[in-house]
Amino acid sequence: MTAPAAPSSSPPSSASPTGGPLPAIAVRDFQKRFTLVELERLFSEPSTIVRRVEAVRGISFTVDHGQVYGFLGPNGAGKTTTIKACMDLIRPTSGVIELYGRPPGDPVVKQRIGYLPEHPYFYDYLKPQEILDFFGRLFGLDRAERKKRIGELLERVGLSHAQNRALRKFSKGMLQRLGIAQALLNDPDLLVLDEPMSGLDPMGRRDIRELILEERRKGKTVFFSTHVLSDAEHLCDRVAIVVRGTVRREGLLSDLLVSEAGRTQILMRGGTPELQASLRELGARIEVVGASLDITLDATLTNSALERCIAAGASIDRVSALRDSLESIFVREAEGADAPAGGHVERGDG
Ligand SMILES: Nc1ncnc2c1ncn2[C@@H]1O[C@H](COP(=O)(O)OP(=O)(O)O)[C@@H](O)[C@H]1O
Ligand SMILES: [Mg+2]
Repeated sequence: MTAPAAPSSSPPSSASPTGGPLPAIAVRDFQKRFTLVELERLFSEPSTIVRRVEAVRGISFTVDHGQVYGFLGPNGAGKTTTIKACMDLIRPTSGVIELYGRPPGDPVVKQRIGYLPEHPYFYDYLKPQEILDFFGRLFGLDRAERKKRIGELLERVGLSHAQNRALRKFSKGMLQRLGIAQALLNDPDLLVLDEPMSGLDPMGRRDIRELILEERRKGKTVFFSTHVLSDAEHLCDRVAIVVRGTVRREGLLSDLLVSEAGRTQILMRGGTPELQASLRELGARIEVVGASLDITLDATLTNSALERCIAAGASIDRVSALRDSLESIFVREAEGADAPAGGHVERGDG
């Protein structure tokens, strides 16, 4: 995995009490419980059923300015619920959410945010140009600015060829691209994307990955949810893995991947049978690849192994920390949380 380049632009003007830039998103102990009241009339008297769904059970995380932050988790983990609360579309049951130090509903904050919902919906009979022009007006962009930005954005998301086609003739992937153009319309400091790769073919996914990295190079912050781990592994500075409404792992992706593995790989040539036996004594696993040896062992034994190799006159080609894959961490966390689902049912009188 290649680490993305450091952001280049200056942080936003708002500053924390300590003088540093305020985090783009700060979520503290966010909980969301949905209450569904249903009427049931199965056999005799109608009765109400109150169903409570614990969608999110106390999530905390911080997205710093300039980061690409991946919000990962299996279906039903609570990602969309958390994102909707950050976008002021639903209210937390408890907990605090702040964007640049302000409540999510603050108009100043909304001006700085671009948002792609999980299921973007646009009026079918409009054309991309028309729908983007409508959103541009909502953001108060003047006519010349709208024209310029809309042209640029349609080009950027690969929809220039379809700018005069009504949206009812768009494929799922094309609507997704339009949703991303709409999210970028106000040149936001913070881009929030709920499953941005959904419905896209491999080229589309590559385009969106590139677009996210471009935003990062401009110094913008990108917060996105996904269950496509290879995308997250290529893009993110930091990730949270959410399972059943709680954060199971959180941190810099590089730390998460290295610390998980705890093993070292040594590639070398000229390893005698005696050296191999001596390394096996240390618990090393050895594979012979042509004239080379591929040795993996516990990271705490790296120095001892290297001393033995050097003393035996072997020629060392590479020593590297083995990284875990995001997928293996994800699967471990998701399977480790196989508790019963969060909803419970109460019966009331009819
Ligand atoms: N409006 C709602 N009413 C009732 N339950 C909901 C509602 N929205 C989401 N849920 C439930 O909350 C849980 C988390 O959903 P969601 O946040 O959409 O997960 P994710 O985006 O991670 O797939 C799921 O069990 C889902 O069924
Ligand atoms: Mg979702």
